[in-house]
Amino acid sequence: MKRSKRLQRLCAEIKACTVFADVGCDHGYCAEYVLKNGLCGRCYISDISAASLKKAERLLSEYIAEGIAYSFCCAGMELIPKDADQVLIAGMGGEEILSILREGFLPERLVLQPMKNAAKVRKYLLEEGYSITRDYTFFDGKYYDVISAERCAAVREYDEKSVWFGYDNLHHPTQEFLDYLKAETEKCERQKHSAPTQVQAVEERLELLREVWNETSRNL
Ligand SMILES: C[S@@+](CC[C@H](N)C(=O)[O-])C[C@H]1O[C@@H](n2cnc3c(N)ncnc32)[C@H](O)[C@@H]1O
Repeated sequence: MKRSKRLQRLCAEIKACTVFADVGCDHGYCAEYVLKNGLCGRCYISDISAASLKKAERLLSEYIAEGIAYSFCCAGMELIPKDADQVLIAGMGGEEILSILREGFLPERLVLQPMKNAAKVRKYLLEEGYSITRDYTFFDGKYYDVISAERCAAVREYDEKSVWFGYDNLHHPTQEFLDYLKAETEKCERQKHSAPTQVQAVEERLELLREVWNETSRNL
């Protein structure tokens, strides 16, 4: 079955590893991709919802029967064995992803797709000593950020704007990113009228968006 562009983009970020874990796997499509493509020796799937996990267990039943995939119904990484060297956490808020990582463990490689607060996620990864190896925005009905990070990879220097907007968006801008900037600018313009008490904060955001637009639009 053809998966959504979002799922394809997430799967494209996953590298070969020893043990892969999909935390909050729901349908289990990403784990299926990893297993089908032989990208890991062992795979863990987990979800806080038993009903969601059941979907993934059905999809991966053969791998589970063979002892290649293991499922865990738990909050975050509570029951996930710590030998997972690559962990995917996608489709949750950035704050939720951070609390899962803080209460769980930090693997060699992470692929994260926060639904909001991507800047907080980038900041946390850098503070924890990760190199963010890929970090960009794409559109699939709405705008999504995907962030891949590794413990031992070449360091890319993150300034404040890269933390806010994503390194690859600034250094290798795409039309999708420029469209995102335009959409954000329009949102701020609307906020200026609907929330007059926040005008100063909105003006600051607009100024930043203008700067980033000027810096990136000429590099496209
Ligand atoms: C929107 S779905 C995303 C599913 C999949 N990761 C994706 O990106 O398509 C979010 C899933 O995360 C699960 N979830 C939410 N909070 C969680 C937590 N703290 N620990 C584990 N799973 C969680 C939900 O039950 C749901 O199945």
